[in-house]
Amino acid sequence: MDQFWSIIIGALVLTSIIVLGFTVFQVHEQQVSLLADLKYRTQILSESFKESIEPIYIAKSIESLQKILDKFTDKQRLMGLAVYDNKGNVVASSAGLSEEIVNNAKPTPVMDADSASGNFATIENSKIYEFINPMHQDDAVIGAIMVVQNADYIGSDLTNIWTTNLLRLFLQVLIFAIAAVFVLRWLIFRPILKMIKSIKAIRSGNIEQGMAGFEKHSFFKPLAEEISKISDSLSKARLAAAEEARLRMEKLDTPWTAERLKEFVKTYLKGRKIFAVSNREPYVHSHIKNEIICSVPASGMVTAVEPVMESCGGVWLAQATGDADKETADANGKIQVPPDDPKYTLKRIWISEKERKGFYAGFSNEALWPLCHNVHNRPIFRKEDWQEYRRVNGKFAQNLLQEIEKVEKPLVLVQDFHFAILPQMIKKSRPDAKIGLFWHVPWPSPEVFNICPQHKEILEGMLGADIIGFHTQQYCNNFMETVGKEIESIVDLEQFSITFKGHVTHIRPFPISVAFASGEDKKSEIKKGKEFLEKFGVKTEYIGLGVDRLDYTKGILERLKGVEFFLELYPAYKEKFTFLQIAPISREEVEKYRQFNEEVTAQTERINEKFQKNGWKPIILVKEHLSHEELNLLYRQADFCLVTPLHDGMNLVSKEFVAARNDESGVLILSQFAGASKELKGAIIINPYSAEQTASSISEALNMPSTQQHSRMKKMRQALKNYNVYRWSAEFMKAVASLD
Ligand code: G6P
Repeated sequence: MDQFWSIIIGALVLTSIIVLGFTVFQVHEQQVSLLADLKYRTQILSESFKESIEPIYIAKSIESLQKILDKFTDKQRLMGLAVYDNKGNVVASSAGLSEEIVNNAKPTPVMDADSASGNFATIENSKIYEFINPMHQDDAVIGAIMVVQNADYIGSDLTNIWTTNLLRLFLQVLIFAIAAVFVLRWLIFRPILKMIKSIKAIRSGNIEQGMAGFEKHSFFKPLAEEISKISDSLSKARLAAAEEARLRMEKLDTPWTAERLKEFVKTYLKGRKIFAVSNREPYVHSHIKNEIICSVPASGMVTAVEPVMESCGGVWLAQATGDADKETADANGKIQVPPDDPKYTLKRIWISEKERKGFYAGFSNEALWPLCHNVHNRPIFRKEDWQEYRRVNGKFAQNLLQEIEKVEKPLVLVQDFHFAILPQMIKKSRPDAKIGLFWHVPWPSPEVFNICPQHKEILEGMLGADIIGFHTQQYCNNFMETVGKEIESIVDLEQFSITFKGHVTHIRPFPISVAFASGEDKKSEIKKGKEFLEKFGVKTEYIGLGVDRLDYTKGILERLKGVEFFLELYPAYKEKFTFLQIAPISREEVEKYRQFNEEVTAQTERINEKFQKNGWKPIILVKEHLSHEELNLLYRQADFCLVTPLHDGMNLVSKEFVAARNDESGVLILSQFAGASKELKGAIIINPYSAEQTASSISEALNMPSTQQHSRMKKMRQALKNYNVYRWSAEFMKAVASLD
């Protein structure tokens, strides 16, 4: 719409400039012509008056002279006449002519030069033109006659031109604007919008409906024919991809792709709908500069669950967080997504500020998050937060129960620690529902978990699920042990299941991953990556990279200490090495995160002050959120990626770095406390609490021969290829659906 108004405003400004330009020109021309006309007429008049007046003046008949002068005053344009003797004294003047005009005139120079002359003057706010003509007797100058004309009408004429033209301009602008709005909106934008709708229909397989849209606009028919051909090839390509995916499904050793996952889900679930629940929504609508922009949050969970939803359809319930979420959804908070090719329903749930504070900032992020991440940050358990946590879990449960009301044996996928007690709430009302809960963060030891005052309610709530998934076997073991110690239940360590009040819950590891696509690095992308580094001010030969949410579990402070120690131990790298830390701000509503943000900034500044030299500084801290594409450019430029969480369920940054390295070089330095360290065996594994280990691993990475880099990277890439995010989704889905 912005463009629409820019076109109209641009055209109007252009028209106005043209009309104004013409007016200035016309006014100037008119002025020149009116002045010339006035001068000419006055000169003629003066000559004819001179002929009549000269003999009377010679005869010295002052009375007759006065009569004649009075007679030739029309009080309109001709203001009057005056006659002067050869000394320049006034002999007589028309009655209506003001004394000021008569006395101010300068006939002497005219008589001296013996040449008539005209002059414009302003007297008593009026513009006049006075023309003085010498009178003769026998070639001798005997006096002068002055003709005075009113020149005010020239100004009025010019003002009239301006008013008429401006009025005309206004009318033109009005008519043009109305016509432009009509033409653009009805004759261009509307058909284009309809055309887009038709193309969308064709793209999603409704070729007949799409083509019918085109039929109405014969203007677009040739285009329609071309699109229908493209659509044909697209459907053929889709069929071929689906067929290939179906064939691949049977061969388990071939890589998983989004297509293969879709095919798998279709065959395996046979049309059963899925109901997903998460705190983060997969599509956020926000107002940005007068426009509504739809974005996909950078979340591993969204990447993992989205392909399943796209293949099966169904409903995804999530918290509404965008400031344009309400206006883009219907009255029930529902919106079909992905927006440009809808495949399932996103149902947004609005929670109050109080609920969000207690549920999200409080119990989820100040209690459960530090409780599950063993990083020496004391969890805060507030009773009111727990109440809000229960309330919001209840709100989501109510909404979900409504959605599954008429669905037999619905499949429910609950995501993460925000909804620990939701499975039990659902199971109570709908025992036939098959519920999978995936816990995306670590599960601590029983001693740690049980300090939570609500640990029993949480465990019982989780045991409403039929399957609980963790990233690693260790977390599964910890969970089994925690339940065994606290809940009266049968813990079966052979089947890895727990029977509580007659209901069986299976506990399984599903190590989450990222999408993996092999292919060559394009030259243009390498260039773009270099430009991107320059934009951040990274110009050195050696580059280390860190990418994390600004979260205290990520070991960012320990990492900075490691970089400091490295420069102390290996001073030769000064001015040759930069550590680029991308750290978008996270969970600002939690005090601990705000403090952490300040600490990271302060430490960065301290270390930079210590080492900076000749415009170089060792650490560049970027708190912006970067897209996947932008991060990939950076991953490909780094000599090593430093991933040092103090405790992490899996850590997808380490996997993203490996997935981005198509060139099979670069070194991954990975914390032994990240779940990913169990899979990425080609990484240099370190204890992030030891600055010495971090420093020597940086030196090892920068000096690692390329053959060794290749063999390590190849190994890690192979692991990712075999177990990517699509396989994660397929295995988790299969586990939930096979429980019938
Ligand atoms: C990390 C965790 C996820 C969690 C997410 C929530 O990515 O690994 O388990 O769901 O944070 O982050 P948020 O920004 O929504 O609080």
